[in-house]
Amino acid sequence: MIVLKSEREIAGMKKAGEILAACHKELAKLVKPGVTTWELNEFVEKFLKERGATPEQKGYRGYEYATCASINDEICHGFPRKQPLKDGDIVTIDMVVNYNGPLADSAWSYGVGKLSEKNKKLLLVTKEALYKGIEQAQPGNRIGDIGHAIQVYAEGEGFSVVRNFIGHGIGAVIHEKPDVPHFGLPGKGARIKEGMVFTIEPMINVGSYESKMDNNGWTARTIDGKNSAQYEHTIAITKDGPVILTEQ
Ligand code: MF3
Ligand code: CO
Repeated sequence: MIVLKSEREIAGMKKAGEILAACHKELAKLVKPGVTTWELNEFVEKFLKERGATPEQKGYRGYEYATCASINDEICHGFPRKQPLKDGDIVTIDMVVNYNGPLADSAWSYGVGKLSEKNKKLLLVTKEALYKGIEQAQPGNRIGDIGHAIQVYAEGEGFSVVRNFIGHGIGAVIHEKPDVPHFGLPGKGARIKEGMVFTIEPMINVGSYESKMDNNGWTARTIDGKNSAQYEHTIAITKDGPVILTEQ
């Protein structure tokens, strides 16, 4: 069942989203060669605490950290760690913020120092793919329209779209209906309605879209060792179209 949210509930999620967006803005300044994702995770914990918010991922299904930190060929759910980021790396920081109950979810990929042309293009295309998807999140459209727009664009740029991890409804819990794949056919899937709140979070790979799971049972990485990037927003559907909740 897809739970539709009231304007009041959406306003609450927007507050969580604004804190999350402010946090990403600070992370963007902190990411550089030599910094560890452990330190970035500690920064996020402190940032949220100071604002009366909490990291919803910590403790979720046994996940132990406030953030997911996925480096280079890691697609998602990388653990924060004490190994320094290197010049030329890319790292995706993903987090869910809880502010007095309502949640917001957003991930950004960051470049570390000087990037290769390939990595620069991967980040640009992945971010643009997110916005192509958001553009399709109109009341009356179908969920498949979102994934189709993302897939056509990302594959047209020579990249591939991860299949095993998808966007999701969000509200009082991290994962609700609907499922939001970043691939698919136009005109297919559930009808998009006013009051829906869900994430769009394309994970885009340089090589094959296939993933494998690390022994830790969480971290997914590309099967061919090539890089993967991700941008994610939480969006609310209004009668006038999609509203991004995770920006300032
Ligand atoms: N933020 C993630 C998403 O975009 C959810 C992570 S689940 C966790 O779907 F357990 F890793 F926290
Ligand atoms: Co997320």
